[in-house]
Amino acid sequence: MYWLGIDIGTGGSRALLIDEQGAFVAGFTAPHQEMTMERPGWAEQDPRDWWDAAQKAVKGVLEAAGAKGEDVKAIGLSGQMHGLVLLDAANEVIRPALIWCDQRSQAQVDFVNSKVGKDDVVTFTANPMLTGFTLPKLLWVRDNEPAHFERARKFLLPKDYVRFRLTGEHATEVSDASGTGLLDVVRRRWSNEMVERLKLDKALLPKLYESVEITGKLSKLAAKATGLKEGTPVVGGAGDQAASGIGNGIVSSGVASCTIGTSGVVFAYLDKPQYDRKGRVHTFCHAVKGKWHVMGVTQGAGLSLQWFRNQLAPGVEYDALTAEAATAPPLSNGLYWLPYLMGERTPHLDPYARGGWVGLTNKHTRADLIRSVIEGVSFSLRDCLSIIHEDMNLDITKVRVSGGGAKSPFWQQMLADVFSSKVTTLANTEGSAYGAALLALAGAGPYASVEDVCAMAIKEVSSVVPGPHECAVYQRGYEVFGVLYPTLKPIYGLIHQMA
Ligand code: XUL
Repeated sequence: MYWLGIDIGTGGSRALLIDEQGAFVAGFTAPHQEMTMERPGWAEQDPRDWWDAAQKAVKGVLEAAGAKGEDVKAIGLSGQMHGLVLLDAANEVIRPALIWCDQRSQAQVDFVNSKVGKDDVVTFTANPMLTGFTLPKLLWVRDNEPAHFERARKFLLPKDYVRFRLTGEHATEVSDASGTGLLDVVRRRWSNEMVERLKLDKALLPKLYESVEITGKLSKLAAKATGLKEGTPVVGGAGDQAASGIGNGIVSSGVASCTIGTSGVVFAYLDKPQYDRKGRVHTFCHAVKGKWHVMGVTQGAGLSLQWFRNQLAPGVEYDALTAEAATAPPLSNGLYWLPYLMGERTPHLDPYARGGWVGLTNKHTRADLIRSVIEGVSFSLRDCLSIIHEDMNLDITKVRVSGGGAKSPFWQQMLADVFSSKVTTLANTEGSAYGAALLALAGAGPYASVEDVCAMAIKEVSSVVPGPHECAVYQRGYEVFGVLYPTLKPIYGLIHQMA
């Protein structure tokens, strides 16, 4: 018997099978087309491409495991958060999805703040309104493409579009819905106050579940398309970060996780909602019933290295890039990378921030460039951790790392040194797809709770401790890094005005 997790990421869709003990059986990834970026700060993907990739990934994982559709007992979904998928009355996709890192909607954020009131937005949704969230994207379509908005009958989040194709249901769950700007995160229900004050049609919203609840069953059509069995239950699942939190076993206090995918996230568990008073990190529902989490987001984490590779080292493998970076000294001979390729959320909440190097000289080598990129992303993740650990005072004694970027031992050591904290890795570092499979097991398997599933399945295998010398060097570097954004902010404003 197997449980299936499907993660709709940015770079690709991954399907992963686990057994009843939560052990990894097989995984298969099908890539997505790269996001299209018609203008700086815009980012779109075609939801139909996600569904194509999801079908390939499921077929691929069944084949890799030598499994049949009927061996799969339940499905859990996870996916990139905040994206806006609009469906018409015939359930056709109306336009490409505006995805999580799309930053075009500052005017709509301002509108929400003026209409609802900035403080009331926080009262109703537990978070300030941000360009990254789904609601301002929806309002951008209303303001700029009224014909598309008129046609819309439902909005869905990325993984929930795949759920729709699997089950025919328009549904979501609380962890992903937290990032829409329309959820009452404290009460775990859609915010009537937001809907009413913005005069939105409530029918646009999908039905809301908890992450372990069954949201529908696999349709005949989807069974044919994927090789799975008709009637297989599909549980709510989670936004990729909450799913990754489950996959990393972040279901109690004391341990944080750091996931480096296209974005980078530092994630910690909350027994009750708790906030950063400046709103620099998100307080969202956890995939554990009645629990919450807090997370800080670096928009351009793995994306920074991907950009570097695409533009400056085409065809070079990531392992070769990190090996080259390791030949440069810590702090890359005084070179600093600002990872703000898609604006920044934590800690700056600034859609107009831009990426770049500061400190470049004629002496710098490509090794320095690569190392500085990895260091800049790590500093930015430390910004996330510092708010959670120091400003919000949450007890964090170690950090579990996962995601593509964190597979590299070089990057793991750097995170330990930059965070000045023990960093651990797990037997399974799959993050979101694994978490989605664990949620399927928790929702439709023989266990009482997600916590029980995690206690059984999550095993730490190794740890990296910070080097005292490197910590001191990076502490000094972090102080320099901290001065760069405030110094450059007026220039980002000028660039934006001139664009
Ligand atoms: C989280 C976030 C990203 C996306 C893409 O708030 O925006 O992590 O989910 O992974």
